[in-house]
Amino acid sequence: MFLTLRSAGQEKTIDVQDGQTIAEAARLHDIQLYGSCGGHGICAGCSRYIASGIVQLLNRKTGLPYQQRDDVAPYAKTCIAQPVADGVVVETERSARLW
Ligand code: FES
Repeated sequence: MFLTLRSAGQEKTIDVQDGQTIAEAARLHDIQLYGSCGGHGICAGCSRYIASGIVQLLNRKTGLPYQQRDDVAPYAKTCIAQPVADGVVVETERSARLW
């Protein structure tokens, strides 16, 4: 599956393996989205605007999805957010280095 990261007018489309979160997939492409908790879903430092597409949020205690984007604000913690299908677009902050 694929997702697109946008920053400062640039876009980069990356592949996402089953079970990967947005932040994990980004990290494999040398794009850092993690916040201070390092991906434990606590700090919200990795929260980004989900411009389109549907993501599901993982419960870190169970490892199971517990919420889909439809039920949450358009910002999602990327360390616990998994794309449900192709077409997810994530707006990253202006300073994010995509390539
Ligand atoms: S890195 Fe802290 S909530 Fe995602």
